[in-house]
Amino acid sequence: MIERFPIRIEVNGRKFEDYVAPNQSLIEVLRTQAGATDVKYGCGEGVCGTCTVLMDGDPVNSCLIFAVQADGTSITTLGGLVDEETGLHPLQRAFLKHGGAQCGFCTPGMVLTARWLLDRNPSAGREEIREAIAGNLCRCTGYRKILDAIEDCADGGRRHGD
Ligand code: FES
Ligand code: FES
Repeated sequence: MIERFPIRIEVNGRKFEDYVAPNQSLIEVLRTQAGATDVKYGCGEGVCGTCTVLMDGDPVNSCLIFAVQADGTSITTLGGLVDEETGLHPLQRAFLKHGGAQCGFCTPGMVLTARWLLDRNPSAGREEIREAIAGNLCRCTGYRKILDAIEDCADGGRRHGD
C-alpha cells in the first residue's frame, strides 16, 4: 500500500487538509479532494495550460506539480476570483463582454494567467498579453477575443472601459 502524507493548503482562502499519495498531482487533489472542479484537465503533460492555478500568486500547471509540493502554499483557482460582495472579477466580466469564452475549457487557466499578468503589469500592452498567455492554448476563439478581453482590463479597465 502506498504511504500517504498529510498536506495543508489554502484553497481560495479556505484551509484544506488531507492525506495524499506522493505521486498524486495537485490537479487531482484539487478536483477530487478539495472540491475545486473549476480546475480543468487537458493534456496532463504541461502543454495546454488548461490546468493553470495560482500558487502563492504565480501561475503553475497543476498537472505537473505533485500535491505534496504544494504543501503550505496558497492556491487560487478561477472560483477564487469571485468576490462575495461584488461578484465576478473584472476579467471574468470582460471575457463575457468580448465573447472570450466559447466552449470555456481553457477559460479558467486563461483568466488566472491574465490576473497574474495584470497584477504585475497593470499597463500590459497587447504583445505583453499575447506573450503571457502563450502557454495557454485555446481551440475555439482564435485568441483575438481573449486578447480584447484582457486588454479591456489593462490600466484598471480605463483603456476600453464602459
Ligand atoms: Fe496541465 Fe495541459 S492539463 S498543461
Ligand atoms: Fe474553447 Fe478556449 S474557449 S478552448
